[in-house]
Amino acid sequence: MAASTNNTTRERILINDGWKFYKYNLIVEADSLIYDIRPEVRDERDDRPADERPTEAAKVAGGSNVLKPWILPTGNAFIKDPAKRHTRPEGNPGGNFPFVQTGFNDGTWESVTLPHDWAVKGPFYKGWNTEIGGGMGRLPVHGVAWYRRKLDIPAADAGKSVFLDVDGAMSYAMVWLNGQLVGGWPNGYTSWRVDLTPYLKPGGQNQLAIRVDNPPSSSRWYPGGGIYRNVWLTKTNAVHVGHWGTFVTTRDVSKTAATVDLKVTVANDAATDSNVEVSTEIYKLDGAGKKAGKAIARINPATAAIKTKGSETIASSVTIANPKLWGPPPTQTPNRYVAVTTVTAQGKPVDVYETPFGIRDLRFDGEKGIFVNGERVYIQGVNQHHDLGALGAAFNVRAAERQLEMLRDMGCNAIRMAHNPPAPELLELTDRMGFLVVNEQFDDWELKKTPLDFHLIFPDWHEQDLRALIRRDRNNPSVIMWSFGNEVGEQYTDEEGAKVARRLHAIVKEEDSTRPTTVSMNYAKPHMPLPAVVDVISLNYQGEGIRDAPAYAGLKGIRTSPLYPAFHEKFPDKVILSSENAAAISSRGEYMFPVTDGISSPVKDGLGGDPKSLQVSSYELYSVDFGSSADKVFGSLEKHPYVAGGFVWSGWDYLGEPTPYYLARSSYFGIIDLAGFKKDRFYLYQAHWRPDFPMAHILPHWNWPNRVGQVTPVHVLTSGDEAELFLNGKSLGRKKKQQYEYRLRWNEVQYAPGELKVVAYKNGKKWAENSVKTTGEAQKLQLAADRATIQADGEDLSFVTVRVTDKNGLMVPNAKNALHFSIEGPGELVATDNGDAANLVPFPSHDRDAFNGLCLVIVRGKPGQKGTITVRAESAGLEAGTVTVKTVDAK
Ligand code: GAL
Repeated sequence: MAASTNNTTRERILINDGWKFYKYNLIVEADSLIYDIRPEVRDERDDRPADERPTEAAKVAGGSNVLKPWILPTGNAFIKDPAKRHTRPEGNPGGNFPFVQTGFNDGTWESVTLPHDWAVKGPFYKGWNTEIGGGMGRLPVHGVAWYRRKLDIPAADAGKSVFLDVDGAMSYAMVWLNGQLVGGWPNGYTSWRVDLTPYLKPGGQNQLAIRVDNPPSSSRWYPGGGIYRNVWLTKTNAVHVGHWGTFVTTRDVSKTAATVDLKVTVANDAATDSNVEVSTEIYKLDGAGKKAGKAIARINPATAAIKTKGSETIASSVTIANPKLWGPPPTQTPNRYVAVTTVTAQGKPVDVYETPFGIRDLRFDGEKGIFVNGERVYIQGVNQHHDLGALGAAFNVRAAERQLEMLRDMGCNAIRMAHNPPAPELLELTDRMGFLVVNEQFDDWELKKTPLDFHLIFPDWHEQDLRALIRRDRNNPSVIMWSFGNEVGEQYTDEEGAKVARRLHAIVKEEDSTRPTTVSMNYAKPHMPLPAVVDVISLNYQGEGIRDAPAYAGLKGIRTSPLYPAFHEKFPDKVILSSENAAAISSRGEYMFPVTDGISSPVKDGLGGDPKSLQVSSYELYSVDFGSSADKVFGSLEKHPYVAGGFVWSGWDYLGEPTPYYLARSSYFGIIDLAGFKKDRFYLYQAHWRPDFPMAHILPHWNWPNRVGQVTPVHVLTSGDEAELFLNGKSLGRKKKQQYEYRLRWNEVQYAPGELKVVAYKNGKKWAENSVKTTGEAQKLQLAADRATIQADGEDLSFVTVRVTDKNGLMVPNAKNALHFSIEGPGELVATDNGDAANLVPFPSHDRDAFNGLCLVIVRGKPGQKGTITVRAESAGLEAGTVTVKTVDAK
């Protein structure tokens, strides 16, 4: 969990508590302290297909009454060319505005704790033509809001440098301290710092005020609203390690030795020049990320003279014998180290700075794929957006860890951060758990996808946003690649677009020459100039072909044959990744008839999709128009073994983008639903990705009172290669997977209530068994907590699954009973969900219908209160259920 650190030279204080919050009801009521004027929205359409061609930005004349000139200098440290850096104009815009004044009474404002997402509590907008439609998640993300907080700065801080570090604020954040405009950062996903020192009054209370402005029509998914990640106060001596001022790389890595190269940038904010000495000790980190034992290596002190207001970068190296390497499980272990750097001036330590890192060797081979420490690691990845379902965008370590744990259980080993920098703590988790990460910035460059997305700031901020991403995340061993764009419109503009790509590629290389660059392409072809720019070819959907199979004939939009061979032929030395594949869709536990005969079909109303219930069939054969089923993707990847693997769109469902039913609130793409319940697709991936894990799964459920005697296809997903299916003890035949077959299908099963049982085999031997049974009526509620003990720190969570069962404890697979939840003891019921993309009951509600037998309750312990929480679920006519969760002292 995020924690404040304090050594005698540097303090990093988490300032998530004690904030006051105010949001204008209407955008038109908001103050006029805008970052920049925005174009009028004329061409908004909520359900624009994701692969529609991006369009020209609307041109607006810059306003004279905007704060942009005061905000731009915040990014100066990330602009390489001194001539392009920004000078702060005279004046103090907003200085007279009441909300920034120290004396302003914010007593009536809402008290909030960060990370805070103002929109997630809802309510959801319902129907068509609403202010925020399905694309952005139907939640009130748009608007202008203020956050205020007092900072108690002791007199002893005089002479120190004091920074505000914001891990993410959505969006156009601007900061005032004691009535003075300090700076800000428009991109809502970038982490940034402002220097409070010039405006600070040590020896008393200082007043911080942050304005956040989140435009409507600004995103293709749910962005969240407000300060949705951690905020820190960092205090250092005037001479200190600069912002993200260390860079560790490793080379000549083997089991017996590895060389660690370390660069340390030391800044001197003092009025005089300073001579410094920089030395570093390296320690092993244990599994929990704590320093273990004595230093295992030492980098000898190096000296530098640093001019006043200047900085210097000191490079040094050390060789480590028998290093414990970082690598992805199950074959490797994500071992980590920490470099503890001490800066000494005038014989006294002035800064101690810790840089966690991993020692690993990456190799990229156009024919064989990606190698980590000499071992080929096939990428079994998923794309993830940043929201955490019912918790919204507000980052929570445990919620993110739960996502990763379930993905790991499925056999996933890699995450693409679609399409923006993640919370830093998420990369701490991928480091610790050993996932490989494609870290990404930009869903659009100069051309736009939605009228007010970040194309508006790209010309002014692309360099700062990209360099900030790399400087922040370059020491995370899990990051293996930098992506600087997803399906950007510049794919269509040949040389002009390639020019932008070349500039971004050069920026990445200047920052980090050790990792490859990439850009995800759903349109660019091998002969176009864009793919030639990047190190790794990342294809979205083009590998398996877009709208290419017969079932997809006649659909409008991009159409390509399978393009792996053409890209491989043109770029034989470049690794090819399937950076997005599938875009398959389903609603957990919904099955629709008839079932398509083929292995992949676009969802249509009446074939896999029901526009009335807004549900998509879970036979797991349906995709959006430009996508393919998982089965088709598996076959395509297997036929092209030089492809290094790929990333499914998407691992978990996310808020927004509910293709094909935009009256809904959340996506259908996830392998796991928004509440964290596994769809059948989970088992399709597990069967394929974990061939050594014995498992077999049957779909659909077996409660079809209206289908007695009717054909009801049964599919088996197994890591075995053969299986026999039994209905009420009678064999329906034994089937063997043929080449490029990833499920076994019994298409002619006539429904009769009772038990379906499967016995799976591998290499002729019994491998796994499973069964589904027709259940009785719903009778009781069963509760199970994912963790029975949590920390009483106000952050840690327990995820409680509620199952509606019959009298024998079997989950009733179509149960939609209305449930009511209550809680006793030192805890809070944070949110509920059921994974139904069409459910518009606000997340904090204590009343929610089960969706196909399941519901989720998210519980948090009250900070500092130890005890036992009891969660109770009840429903008319059903036996109530409870579960207890213990809260213990925070570690
Ligand atoms: C892709 C896009 C993703 C997502 C996905 C599913 O085209 O890159 O961000 O929109 O389609 O619709």
